[in-house]
Amino acid sequence: MKIIGTGSALPRKQVTNDDLSKFLDTSDEWIVTRTGIRSRHVISDEKVEDLGAEAARKALADAGLQASDIDFFICSNVISEHITPGLSCIIGQQVGLTCPMIDINCACPGFIYAMDIAQTYFEAGKVNNVLIVCAEEPTRMTSWEDRATCVLFGDGAGAAVFTKGDNMKAIKLNAEPSIDKIYEHRILEPTPFITKEEDSVPLQMKGREVFRFAVSTSIRDINELLAKTGLTIEDADHFLIHQANMRIVEGIRSGLGVPEEKFPTNIATHGNSSSASCPILLDELNREGRFKKGDIIVFSAFGAGLLSAAAIMEW
Ligand code: COA
Repeated sequence: MKIIGTGSALPRKQVTNDDLSKFLDTSDEWIVTRTGIRSRHVISDEKVEDLGAEAARKALADAGLQASDIDFFICSNVISEHITPGLSCIIGQQVGLTCPMIDINCACPGFIYAMDIAQTYFEAGKVNNVLIVCAEEPTRMTSWEDRATCVLFGDGAGAAVFTKGDNMKAIKLNAEPSIDKIYEHRILEPTPFITKEEDSVPLQMKGREVFRFAVSTSIRDINELLAKTGLTIEDADHFLIHQANMRIVEGIRSGLGVPEEKFPTNIATHGNSSSASCPILLDELNREGRFKKGDIIVFSAFGAGLLSAAAIMEW
């Protein structure tokens, strides 16, 4: 398969570190030094499905396709206001899709997990064109009194349209279930029969352990895929790493020994937008004209699960 269109949409409201320090015991200096984040887009009056639909429409327009050309739609999302139907159906209705559609919740590597599913559908000969939308509002998961987590996140949506082709050179999914590293849970509707103890907690994260997992698995995943494809680090033109944290991205870049210009980032102005971060970055670079035919793009992402994934694709 190959990418023929990209799109993205961000909430209007931008929140700076100084804005946060008005109600949190934090500072621009602490946040920038630890994360590289200076501001983030945060949902205020928008709905995450509207951002997802806008990103999808832009990707379709970029691909020169209509909604009716899409055979399969995968929506990656961790949290939204909707329990059922899935966010795919809610975005699908707005965009005018009538093809089969599914939701996945694979946290931050969701875009690469969705690409792997799409690739399988292409290889099975079941589809001609696939739409992936990653629409995320992680700012609704964190406690805004928890300075160690709420400063890290931003909202947004990214989308890509894929068609037949042999541009996907290799893809790898990895799972190391360890559910106490990043988690959140909530109490469901009460019933007259519930006797078990339940509780509701906002996003909890063991920051340092997640940091170590992210850097080590990303370097390992990328090296494994390069070895599998016979490509070298020098053959890769762009490394699109999940924009979790500038120090994580820097750790991966220096671990691989790649020059800075091959590691584009938008973390400073976007924060961590979960699975939307890779397709948003992809769309921004595409619209800046940074990709030329034949360029090798390496994707790598990691997050709750713990899950990680990587892919090597030719533009
Ligand atoms: N402002 C000021 N101080 C803060 C703060 C904030 N926003 N958040 C935490 N602190 C404080 C802590 O309370 C702690 O204080 P103490 O020493 O008095 O207890 C101190 O800073 C150090 O906290 P610690 O958690 O050890 O900092 P750290 O250097 O590990 O950095 C993270 C914290 C979250 C930035 C870092 O662990 C990280 O980047 N982890 C990866 C997170 C991530 O990207 N997750 C998503 C992956 S998909």
